[in-house]
Amino acid sequence: MTGFIESSRTTSSESDARLRCIEPNCRAEFPITNRLYSCPHCDGLLDVAYTIGSNYSVEDCKQEFCARKTSPDALDRSGVWRFRELLPFVDFSKVVTLSEGNTPIYNAPRSAGYAGLDALRFKHQGLNPTGSFKDNGMTTGVTQAVALGAPAVACASTGNTSASMAAYAARAGLRAFVFIPADQISYGKLSQSLEYGAKVVEIEGNFDDAMRLVRELADETDLYLLNSINPFRLEGQKTIIIEMMEQCEWQAPDWIVLPGGNLGNTSAFGKALHEMTKLGFIDRMPRLAVIQAEGAAPFYELFASTDRSQLHPVATPQTLATAIRIGNPVSWKKALRALHCTNGVVERLTEQEIADAKAIIGADGIGCEPASAATLAGIKRLVASGTIDPSANVIAVLTGNLLKDPSYTIGYHTDELAIEQHGAQIQVKGNFANRPIRTPANKDEIRRALAL
Ligand code: F0G
Repeated sequence: MTGFIESSRTTSSESDARLRCIEPNCRAEFPITNRLYSCPHCDGLLDVAYTIGSNYSVEDCKQEFCARKTSPDALDRSGVWRFRELLPFVDFSKVVTLSEGNTPIYNAPRSAGYAGLDALRFKHQGLNPTGSFKDNGMTTGVTQAVALGAPAVACASTGNTSASMAAYAARAGLRAFVFIPADQISYGKLSQSLEYGAKVVEIEGNFDDAMRLVRELADETDLYLLNSINPFRLEGQKTIIIEMMEQCEWQAPDWIVLPGGNLGNTSAFGKALHEMTKLGFIDRMPRLAVIQAEGAAPFYELFASTDRSQLHPVATPQTLATAIRIGNPVSWKKALRALHCTNGVVERLTEQEIADAKAIIGADGIGCEPASAATLAGIKRLVASGTIDPSANVIAVLTGNLLKDPSYTIGYHTDELAIEQHGAQIQVKGNFANRPIRTPANKDEIRRALAL
């Protein structure tokens, strides 16, 4: 083991990392130096596959992961690269990092009570450098872009992927092209991409249109695609789970709950859990619960159907949780594999359920963006239906920061949140609204208004 760790400080040259098609009938393999996003033979999704050093002890590895937290080394301080034995595909001396990861787990008693659980914990990925879990994957994705000598990177995005890619590309000195659905991403996210210097293209269409177009452009030009279809992104996102298990002293919870959009995170979590149980980092498999918004729930529909061989896209996805407003998720096959491997479930929610859950998470002093709040609302439903036991050990992943989408939050607390669904305007009620009070600039008036 010791030799394994020492050799991993600057290089992964002993690694046999390769790209492998996930389709059971294909399984074709390609060198990681090939710029591929899907299998050239059958168009299947690709995994980064590798054999992890056979002569290492899991216990030594766990100790080394922990020891690195106090190291001054930039690689060690990253909550992604701290776990680099499980990311053996790059030259570690050429990593692009912003000290991502290292996100906390919080107890959330009010949220637990709201969901009907004895206890509930949130792992807050919104406390990453650009405010979302995307940073865990972008450090690996952009590092791979640099390794391949790509001059420019690109993505379609509902806002967070683009913000993160723009920041990491800026760090690496790469040009960045961001394709977003016009007028459908929050200002917080748009402002980040602009500030980090990415070229922002507002597509007159939805996310799925942008995704299709950027894939075509990446095939036809030298743009390196950094959506979650890129398997190197998912390798970084695996560390959300690795770090979570470390924080749980390697005792797996019963349930891990996350929102589902393009389904990259679900896929990454499944791969992480599979590898960690296989290698012996954890001795039992937690169950995954993926939560979608009712107006953008193609994966829920797929999972509920008897024929899971083909996903039927939602043509015009609708939800105020714009991060997960996706009708044709690219990684659905990997996500399905993750749910099979973890005996997982999928739930879907109304806009009202998401909005109320967000206010409850706020009342715990935590806060998150709308898509993240789907976790709590989903847990509430799954407890009510008897799927999750009230005494279960549950960790939900908050994927984005509260400050990503202030208009939504203010809309909720001022009773001005509404969505158009099936041609009708649906009002989201501020059931837990905390309305601001306006008064004249006068102390007596303030005392009257506040009953002081
Ligand atoms: N939560 C947040 C805050 C997100 O930004 C996203 C996805 C998800 C959940 C869903 O994750 O796609 O891995 O299932 N945002 C992407 C983006 C699509 O472009 O920022 P997923």
